[in-house]
Amino acid sequence: MHVLELDLSEKPSTSLPSAVVEIPGRAPKLQVYSPLLSPLRSLQKSHGGRIRKLHLRPSIPYQLRIGRKLIITSGNQKLPKRDRSVPRLRIRAGPAFGTGEHGTTRLCLRYLTQFHDRCRKSNPQILDLGCGSGILALACAKLGSFAKGWDNDKSAVKEALRNARLNRLNHRAHFQQADVLRKALPPADLILANLYDTLLLQLLPRLRAHRKAGTQLIFSGILVGQERPILRDAKKLGWKLERRGRIGRWLCLQFR
Ligand SMILES: C[S@@+](CC[C@H](N)C(=O)[O-])C[C@H]1O[C@@H](n2cnc3c(N)ncnc32)[C@H](O)[C@@H]1O
Repeated sequence: MHVLELDLSEKPSTSLPSAVVEIPGRAPKLQVYSPLLSPLRSLQKSHGGRIRKLHLRPSIPYQLRIGRKLIITSGNQKLPKRDRSVPRLRIRAGPAFGTGEHGTTRLCLRYLTQFHDRCRKSNPQILDLGCGSGILALACAKLGSFAKGWDNDKSAVKEALRNARLNRLNHRAHFQQADVLRKALPPADLILANLYDTLLLQLLPRLRAHRKAGTQLIFSGILVGQERPILRDAKKLGWKLERRGRIGRWLCLQFR
């Protein structure tokens, strides 16, 4: 992942995800994110700023518990006795997004474990769009599904494959480089998409056949205040909102 850092006075018109970052003692900056350098380079030509590679590494080993259903750890750390029977997924922090610590990922993890609790089908099929480190697809595979994960960032796919091997889940989770707006979307019982609002809006019309087939959708990566157009378009296309979760300023929407 790369980031272009700009002064707040520059307001580029772009559909790439962006955020205003305030660090005490420094002037606030606008950050624009992209896995590919080329769109940031063209923005830099017109607006200036500085591009750097974003390393999404936590500084300390972490351990994340999703109810009694799943534990995510960054390494081989020893778990307390009461947690030793809970399925465990190891996600090594690398250059791809998705250690589980971010609110958008945590909401997806919470919803996907509940999906597996309720699902009566054996071996449900999962599609993870924008898989990053592979965390969501691998969590589904750990809970008994077959998962396909796509990302347009080559280094994320490499990372997801590495995490699949680390957890011995390569037979249940497959990853490939693909743009979610271009490649035909295969049938799935559950689609996870932790992306960003404008991309989710573009994705919705591509999911007509899935709605008819009874697929469930988990949309994440939506900031408070960005959900209205998504709710409006989803309703128009026949999706029923089942749940709306929030961690901090991040929302996750589940549709059926
Ligand atoms: C917010 S991260 C989510 C990672 C992980 N699924 C999670 O929940 O933690 C979004 C991912 O979507 C990928 N992405 C962005 N636009 C995409 C596109 N058009 N097609 C495929 N992947 C895309 C990014 O490279 C990034 O890895």
